[in-house]
Amino acid sequence: MKIISGAVELQAARRAWTEDVGFVPTMGGLHRGHAALLAHARARHRHVVASIYVNPLQFGPREDFAAYPRTLDADQALLEAEGVDVAFLPTQEAIYPAGPARQTEVRVPGLSDDLCGRYRPGHFAGVTTVVARLFGLVQPTVAYFGKKDYQQWRLIERMVRDLAWPIMVIGVDTVREADGLALSTRNRYLHADERARAPLLAELLRTAVVAIQAGDIIPAVERTVFRQLQDGGFVPDYVSVRRQLDLGPPEETDDALVILAAARLGAARLIDNREFSRLGPAGPAALHEAEKAG
Ligand code: PAJ
Repeated sequence: MKIISGAVELQAARRAWTEDVGFVPTMGGLHRGHAALLAHARARHRHVVASIYVNPLQFGPREDFAAYPRTLDADQALLEAEGVDVAFLPTQEAIYPAGPARQTEVRVPGLSDDLCGRYRPGHFAGVTTVVARLFGLVQPTVAYFGKKDYQQWRLIERMVRDLAWPIMVIGVDTVREADGLALSTRNRYLHADERARAPLLAELLRTAVVAIQAGDIIPAVERTVFRQLQDGGFVPDYVSVRRQLDLGPPEETDDALVILAAARLGAARLIDNREFSRLGPAGPAALHEAEKAG
């Protein structure tokens, strides 16, 4: 595995490749969720690039940029074990040559200010801006994102489509702990008692899906989950059912839905979501997924 931290050096390595390049951008603090993305890329592409960069632009002034877990040695070992060809560990200059504040901004309108965007102003513009720069440097043919960060994945899809970039964006299923909690770098902020309560989020989303499939009214289910999260010691930001493709509000005829939630638990802000077919486990969206899985 080659370790590269400069923009020019990365571009030189990239120019030597003519076949498929799979790319997995990360902020480090790597875990099995990241490993799943890398394994998908490794299985499909001749060349695999992973990046680790804690992007200042996507953290709010009161967020955890300084405290964000930096575990570079363990991260490098994981990238190596997953068969990554190039680990891109850029310096700030490689990403923001004139400094973060002077960087050309890429922003997806509308969706950036919805859901998590309401509670984290500027966050998604920071994400699309850094991913745009990384895409420009790495020139991947295919890029992998976790469905754990569902809104982020859909935003990147939108950006790539709107800018007509020849990059395929693939969403990879969320990797979970045995008790259902979605793996996240920020889970290490949870104290033991909070960690014990954390799986409630995934559990409530699961029961909400069953309720909607049984015919319960969506806004009522959203309110119930919100209250159940509060009862479980969470401070919820939102619980919302949307269309999978564009995260728009579901119309009567939409079947491919996703329920998304964000809630604070102690020092951690947890997010989770669950895709489902409104008509039930045998509904059109579910069958489509089953077909894709073969
Ligand atoms: P980070 O939080 O490090 O996540 C990197 C990638 O791993 C993202 O695509 C994320 O969705 C995915 N991921 C995280 N936890 C996962 C899990 N439990 N299962 C499956 N995939 C998971 O997301 C970011 O970094 C940044 O915003 C980034 C895109 C790198 C831009 O800075």
